[in-house]
Amino acid sequence: MTVPQAAGTSQLLAARLQIPPIPYSHAAGSWVYASDGKRYLDGASGIVNVNIGHAHPVVVDALREQVGICTYASPGTFAPTQMQQLAAATARAVHRPDDQVMFTPTGTHATEAAIALARLVQRARGEEGRHKILTSSLGYHGNSAFVLALSGHRSRRPHPDDSFGVAPAFDPPYPGQHLGCPLPVCQAECARSVRDAIVEAGPETVAAVLLEPVNGTTGGGYVPPAGYLRAVREICDEYGVLFIQDEVLTGLGRTGLPLASHHTPGADADIVTLSKGLGAGYVPLAATMLAPRLAEDIMSSGKWLPLMGTMSATPLQGTAGLAVLSVLEDLGVFDRDVVKGEAVGKLVTEAVRGQAVVKNVRGLGYFYGIELTPGTLGDVMRITRSHGLLLYPFVNWHPDRTGEGLLIAPPLNSTDTDLDFLGETLRTSLAQAGERVN
Ligand SMILES: Cc1ncc(COP(=O)(O)O)c(C=O)c1O
Repeated sequence: MTVPQAAGTSQLLAARLQIPPIPYSHAAGSWVYASDGKRYLDGASGIVNVNIGHAHPVVVDALREQVGICTYASPGTFAPTQMQQLAAATARAVHRPDDQVMFTPTGTHATEAAIALARLVQRARGEEGRHKILTSSLGYHGNSAFVLALSGHRSRRPHPDDSFGVAPAFDPPYPGQHLGCPLPVCQAECARSVRDAIVEAGPETVAAVLLEPVNGTTGGGYVPPAGYLRAVREICDEYGVLFIQDEVLTGLGRTGLPLASHHTPGADADIVTLSKGLGAGYVPLAATMLAPRLAEDIMSSGKWLPLMGTMSATPLQGTAGLAVLSVLEDLGVFDRDVVKGEAVGKLVTEAVRGQAVVKNVRGLGYFYGIELTPGTLGDVMRITRSHGLLLYPFVNWHPDRTGEGLLIAPPLNSTDTDLDFLGETLRTSLAQAGERVN
């Protein structure tokens, strides 16, 4: 669905959706206001990151104040007061209170840091040969050359010459994605393909397994079968492999609990990455969280941590992150006893009922993927947009490179009125698209 910018229209080199971008004036809460006065509900929270809506006054006020005080203080030279506070607040928010936290600007950097830390931990433990990172054939972890080479984003796979000799190692437990699986439906036992991948790679060479606990933008919200994550956790333990969970998209409440792994008791990661919900669209910000025993292994080995980048820990990022977390806390997002987002699940279920253009729906909490019948995505996007609703497309995730769908992921603080608009507009737009198909 993304195509290169047409030559001559602008000097900006950037991917674009097939429908033209909207000139806009401002945004507030769940709404973006176009230059022509029309307003759009941001039904996918930007790219599933504007999790507390646009221009939230708590964040705006905090940023405004911090910009006037100090935006940059060289990491390593000046006391990183805000980042220390943010490390503690982030660790508390996701119920990993004793983790050590490394900050970087993007989800991609968080993945790179997680990989570097996993390898470092293995070497600190005397496991010199453990460098491989095993990933799933359907998943996304970022857009650096190396991380793209590792990830199962089918349409972003690099040219074979550019893939550093690495590739995804196992199939995920999702319908049509777990090739050669002997089971009729996906079950926790599908974790055996992770075991097979470790054995095939040679356990003494494997540093970590890296996966998204709930599939994000590649397959549109596939949820693993109950117990799958715990089964992977157990397999990792059995072979001395670390478990990295990429919660860049799912973390901080998107799936209705602080972490997506909280849906599965006994499936805690060794290393967790967060980003979208932490910067929430206000500043570039990501966190890589390391369980305390791993941090101790590194510290006691005397090995050097991966070096931080120029913009990896600024007072502005710290201030923004703390303000975002305080808003999320007030919304009750960090409560791990009750799954939130029920209203979103309900509106999606009602909107897709009996719709000719809908093939499948999946997701949980505040995050759903609607798989559309082939050839209808462009129409559905144009129609939803004409009715003032913005959704995010996902495409080409099936092994044969087909598949088209839309993500529903409103801000976690959407009002009842926002959600009513989302549900009703989605329902009428899908029906309208269905009439064209029939
Ligand atoms: C699960 C997941 N991991 C990593 C990334 C990369 O994050 P970023 O775009 O901030 O580099 C993304 C981005 O969509 C993501 O969804």
